[in-house]
Amino acid sequence: MTRSKRLSQIEQMVTPGYTHIWDCCCDHGFLGAALLSSQRTAQIHFVDVVPTVMSELESRLQRFCSDSATRWNTHCLDVTELPLEQYSGRQLIIIAGVGGDLITQFVAAIQQKHARLNLDFLLCPVHRQFTLRQKLIELNFSLRDEALIEENQRFYEVMLVSSNSKLNAPISPVGEKIWQSDSAEQQHIAEAYLHKTLSHYQRIQQGNKVAVDHILAAYRAITL
Ligand SMILES: C[S@@+](CC[C@H](N)C(=O)[O-])C[C@H]1O[C@@H](n2cnc3c(N)ncnc32)[C@H](O)[C@@H]1O
Repeated sequence: MTRSKRLSQIEQMVTPGYTHIWDCCCDHGFLGAALLSSQRTAQIHFVDVVPTVMSELESRLQRFCSDSATRWNTHCLDVTELPLEQYSGRQLIIIAGVGGDLITQFVAAIQQKHARLNLDFLLCPVHRQFTLRQKLIELNFSLRDEALIEENQRFYEVMLVSSNSKLNAPISPVGEKIWQSDSAEQQHIAEAYLHKTLSHYQRIQQGNKVAVDHILAAYRAITL
């Protein structure tokens, strides 16, 4: 069961047609469990590096998802060790709820190991979105979709990207669609997120230890 606005948003951004969906850093497994219901033709892979997390999840899945037992697998693995080459068809790798630096490392390692595969990634870092976007641009990834949500006074960017650069739009260093609001509520979220992000980088700039002028300039150029 998807329990939060953040996980619901991620679930909604999974488009139909994937053969394998990897819920990486799955922890409680809520996202993968929701996808078992909403993506009924996909094989759902639950991945976490902590053995106790995976054994508890395996027990819960056996208890509550036995009717779909042929459609899920558990893997106690580091995200960088995903056995993607063993599977065919369209694959989506979801990584959410960990820091942007870590997600950046995961995506770079997966891409390096599986350069010949066309992979989609659905990413939701808890911070360091700019760093992640820089790496995705450097890797020549393209954008399928992006969204901005607020939950418990925290802001989350969700990005659906593809390692196939020819298919979709280029990735913006600061996002594009996330700043375009279709409601007063979304406008308010975008304004608050921009304000918070600018304040964050202004504080870093004042500390004078890390060069962030280019990042500030990019965020200051956003019009809402
Ligand atoms: C905060 S939980 C995120 C849960 C869920 N994805 C979400 O967004 O709510 C982070 C999980 O990432 C797992 N994790 C951290 N590093 C990992 C790695 N290198 N490979 C696989 N899992 C990892 C941790 O064990 C933990 O269960």
